[in-house]
Amino acid sequence: MSEVAERWGSRRAFIMAMTGAAVGLGNIWRFPYMTGENGGAAFLMLYVMFVLILGLPVMMAEIAVGRAGRRTPMQALSHLAVNNQRSPHWRWIGLMGAVTVFFILSFYSVVSGWSLEYLFDSVTGRFAGQSGAVIGQSFEGFLADPFRVIFNHTVFMLMTMTVVAAGIGGGLEKLNNVLMPLLYIVLFVLVGYGATASGFQDALAWLFTPNLSVITTSVVLNAMGHAFFTLAIGACALMAYGAYMPEHQSLPKAVLTVAVLDILVALLSGIAIFSVVFSQGMDPASGPGLMFVTLPIAFADLPGGSLWLGAFFLLLAMATWTSSINLAEPMVAMVKSDRMSRSQAAMLVGGGVWLVGLPSALSFSTLKSWYLWGDGNFFDVVTTVPTDIFLPLGGALIAVFAVWVMDRDEVFKALGGSNALCQTWLWLTRWVSIPLVVVVLMAPLIKSWLT
Ligand code: PFF
Ligand code: NA
Repeated sequence: MSEVAERWGSRRAFIMAMTGAAVGLGNIWRFPYMTGENGGAAFLMLYVMFVLILGLPVMMAEIAVGRAGRRTPMQALSHLAVNNQRSPHWRWIGLMGAVTVFFILSFYSVVSGWSLEYLFDSVTGRFAGQSGAVIGQSFEGFLADPFRVIFNHTVFMLMTMTVVAAGIGGGLEKLNNVLMPLLYIVLFVLVGYGATASGFQDALAWLFTPNLSVITTSVVLNAMGHAFFTLAIGACALMAYGAYMPEHQSLPKAVLTVAVLDILVALLSGIAIFSVVFSQGMDPASGPGLMFVTLPIAFADLPGGSLWLGAFFLLLAMATWTSSINLAEPMVAMVKSDRMSRSQAAMLVGGGVWLVGLPSALSFSTLKSWYLWGDGNFFDVVTTVPTDIFLPLGGALIAVFAVWVMDRDEVFKALGGSNALCQTWLWLTRWVSIPLVVVVLMAPLIKSWLT
């Protein structure tokens, strides 16, 4: 239970690691299709609002707990609780987080595998000059092929666990930091392409003119879950990173930087993708395949399209890689012990996640109609329940811990901002963020009792 000795080398290294965790499939794949399925601008508005009033305070709380505890999540929680004469049982929040990331990583790896497949398909020029219909069919065809989907899932899981086992995440963050600006450039090019497409105006209207009548309890729940997912909070994954935060750094500024970048990437992807959706007369609510169909269509028309598309999927793979490493870290840190080395822990966790990923990989073929919940198959359930319920629940519990269990000076010191800022954070977290999570989580229940 001793303190961790490592620290991020610099202020920048810490921001880099957090950005690596935050920017990933959540922004480029999940944000557009969720926006499409939840009615467009109203969803976007709710999501940005949740990032600001829930995401920022909870992210600060989560990292502050890690920084004050200077241990792996479960140890940090019990150490701080016991120091404040509270029950060590608070550590179970850490276990809940580990279970949550276990399920999230299982589908994250499958979908990242789709991008690996598309990386190879695009550099080999498979989509060049193809029509929208053909590109759409080829995605369906790929998903219906269990072998190819599982193969790519396996490759991605190996990539993730190799880095986690070697504990060389830092090297990857550095590489990522060099490559991410390129991702922004490719996204800007795509937005530029979108601006010339016939659906551009419709896309902007769809994204930025909210129709409040589409808001239901489930839209609100989805927007809240997505805010937690995209910021990588609520599962103690960033808490694990917070333990390595240097002494003299203000947390609020770092957190704000990361959140702004994260929103920016989501908006750029959204504009690029929906321009194609509306130009092609596609349905915005076409689900998880949205990005995989629209972007090849966009690039098919661009000069040098195959290369651009290849570059895009390469950069996407890099972005998802650093996020999946962050997802794996809290589990590996937890399983690792005196008797089990880091590599053994990574193998065990990786094997388990890989297995649980299989039903997701098969959810578009063999297990398509294996319904677990209403008309939701395994993939549908695993991509929603951990994100919409367990991330917000975990985030709220972490926030309760930071504002009600920890000593005020202790948590303010870990936040490292000005006193006024810390006071504002404390007030907002106690009286707005935590109650809001509770209300949104309860709303569907209350509604179902009433009707
Ligand atoms: N934030 C990542 C993304 O947007 O792709 C996903 C993620 C990472 C979720 C880490 C949760 C987590 F703990
Ligand atoms: Na994100």
